Amino acid sequence: MTDHSAAQLNTLRLAADEIGIDAAGDLLSRGELVAIPTETVYGLAADALNGEAVSRIFEAKGRPSDNPLIVHIADRADWAKLVKEIPENANKLADKFWPGPLTIILPASDLIPPQVTAGLKTVAVRFPAHPVTIEVIKAEGCSLAAPSANRSGAPSPTNAARVLEDMDGRIAGVLDGGDCAVGVESTVVDLSLPRPRLLRPGGITPEMLREVLFELDIDPAVTAAPKAGTVVASPGMKYTHYSPRARVTLIQSTPEKFTEFVNAQQHQHPTALCFDGEEQGLLVPFLTYGRRDDPETQAKLLFDKLRQLDDAGATLVYAACPTPDGVGLAVYNRLIRAAGFEVIKLD
Ligand code: TXA
Ligand code: MG
Repeated sequence: MTDHSAAQLNTLRLAADEIGIDAAGDLLSRGELVAIPTETVYGLAADALNGEAVSRIFEAKGRPSDNPLIVHIADRADWAKLVKEIPENANKLADKFWPGPLTIILPASDLIPPQVTAGLKTVAVRFPAHPVTIEVIKAEGCSLAAPSANRSGAPSPTNAARVLEDMDGRIAGVLDGGDCAVGVESTVVDLSLPRPRLLRPGGITPEMLREVLFELDIDPAVTAAPKAGTVVASPGMKYTHYSPRARVTLIQSTPEKFTEFVNAQQHQHPTALCFDGEEQGLLVPFLTYGRRDDPETQAKLLFDKLRQLDDAGATLVYAACPTPDGVGLAVYNRLIRAAGFEVIKLD
């Protein structure tokens, strides 16, 4: 057993081949932490049924202890062991969207250690679509608790190099499965309530969910800052999140007004985060994150672009606001948190 009191671990770089996956499974079944690729973002995994291993996730990330984790499975039959019961609407969602970027919350079974649920009576479960994630869950045995593999508050990592930026020396290994396809974390739906509720938007959109569920409430925290003193349904939504070191402000406007506004702030030395093809008139440094009408690409690029802003030493960022429709709702949800809910509307 590794001495976790030691300041630094030697974080193994594991290839996503049979040897690497077996090694990751081995470390995980011994209670170690391994960062793993998924189709959404990289996860910081531990054996979900080992409370002590799970508590190390919180230490490595600096995560507040009241923020519960998602349990990842590689076989739908394992779901029944983790929750009290599976209602019909949950099965319908799983039929349609699993394996995939959808997390379903239901009342937890007694198997789930309290470290996973942060003391809640419910547990979030996801069956990911990435072949390497599935192989590593099988190599470990049954289920892996895994939040995004960033230090708490930072943008989620979408490749192994970004994981190491935050986690080198803090975890036993990272399994390198290349870039994540979706780029933002899974959609989270709570089915433990009288009416289904979207807690976090992701690659599975509200429209897609409504095709199966007929009724779906959208938690107010998806698009608005939680009011002081209110209880937030998804604890993760109350923290400042996804933030680069720079101060970020979202600009809701046409491309022309965006350029005009940012250029007028030149004396403050801002950096622009804008859409592809809208960078022409900018007189300040900029990064682009996909076309205005292509939310899937925006989702895939956003977190890495936020980290690139740090790499470039940006201190003040004006970001073109995404349209909050379809997958764009997930992009908007992440970016507005990165901006600490600071939005300027220009008309
Ligand atoms: O795509 C994903 O979901 C990634 C990859 C690694 O699978 N994981 C991920 O985990 O994003 P994390 O911990 O960064 O986000 C989990 C979110 C948090 O906002 C947390 O508060 C919420 O899900 N959550 C987990 N269990 C919950 C529960 N029982 N009730 C309400 N919210 C819950
Ligand atoms: Mg996270």
